[in-house]
Amino acid sequence: MPLKRLSVTAVRNLHPVTLHPSPRINIISGANGSGKTSLLEAIHILGLARSFRSTRLNPVIQYEQQQCTVFADLNLHAGAQRSMGITRGKEADYQIRIDGQSVRSTAQLAETLPLQLINPESFRLLEGAPKQRRQFLDWGVFHVEHQFLPSWQRLQKSLKQRNSLLRRGRMERSMLAPWETELVQMGERIDHYRRGYIQQLKPEFETVLGQLITLDELSLSYYRGWDKERGLAEVLDQQFERDCQLGHTQSGPQRADLRLRVRGMNAVDVLSRGQQKLVVCALKIAQGHLLKASGRQQDCVFLVDDLPSELDGQHREALCRLLEGLNCQVFISCVEAEQLAGSWKTETPVSMFHVEHGRIVQTG
Ligand SMILES: Nc1ncnc2c1ncn2[C@@H]1O[C@H](COP(=O)(O)OP(=O)(O)O)[C@@H](O)[C@H]1O
Ligand SMILES: [Mg+2]
Repeated sequence: MPLKRLSVTAVRNLHPVTLHPSPRINIISGANGSGKTSLLEAIHILGLARSFRSTRLNPVIQYEQQQCTVFADLNLHAGAQRSMGITRGKEADYQIRIDGQSVRSTAQLAETLPLQLINPESFRLLEGAPKQRRQFLDWGVFHVEHQFLPSWQRLQKSLKQRNSLLRRGRMERSMLAPWETELVQMGERIDHYRRGYIQQLKPEFETVLGQLITLDELSLSYYRGWDKERGLAEVLDQQFERDCQLGHTQSGPQRADLRLRVRGMNAVDVLSRGQQKLVVCALKIAQGHLLKASGRQQDCVFLVDDLPSELDGQHREALCRLLEGLNCQVFISCVEAEQLAGSWKTETPVSMFHVEHGRIVQTG
């Protein structure tokens, strides 16, 4: 579901611009500090209402400006079209419009424009906290399972209520009951969705990874956040005293994780940086394939910042072939366009953009 037309105003150093990207491969080249990452950031804001570089949005808004705006026309499957836009102001306020209608939830943006980001930060997926891997997993579940988001919201609410009661100290166990019932029901449901998704992700990931690098001993497994032999209700019961002492719920889907191991050891402790990068790329590309296979109206748009950096020629080529094989729209930034020029089949539509001091010009 590619962006057919993209307009960006007042994002970092970018001059106001309207682009007509290729539905497949788009290469954005330019010197350091020219504005390449800023363009990918603009697309990210359109899909998620936030930047990937900082949690605060103000630094993204151009100096001296009060707000930034990104909007796009998208081609959906079967010839349908959609328009979407977001304006973000300095007070963290935003207006979102989809097909001319005001929309209040950023989840609708995400649903309309599924994005996958591959950048130096995303390589932290393996070494970072479980939260990052849960977010990665839930991205996939959210996009293929309609009921995931409402279940997740209900889970968050019940968890918050239970934790706040736990923090209050002395209380009757029965006060927790209504929240625990909800927590258990939503927790088991979310686990069911996640497990179903992992079953599909695993073989896809292995296939993609095999095309990038040989790492036979690597295994991907899912930890659901509590003992796999026992139901969540039983676990909450048994851990009640300890939860009271700690003031929060120790076990549940809020503790789920993805585990990547090599010969039983943590993958981050064994693999080289370059290998870790390829593993992360394979995970994200596998998600792109699953989204496509799910038959949803939207395909994923891939944002790849600084692709050539730290990858040798052979692995760079292999990654380009996989990105091409996704049959999705991809935006790739690099310093020299030549680094990626020869990596595509002749029939693949490739557009080239060059950025200089915030000005973006299509060069091919
Ligand atoms: N809010 C802002 N307003 C104007 N310029 C900014 C703002 N934030 C960052 N910049 C500038 O934008 C430029 C582009 O940065 P970036 O997109 O990261 O470059 P690249 O990815 O091409 O190396 C940098 O030179 C930076 O100083
Ligand atoms: Mg950059």
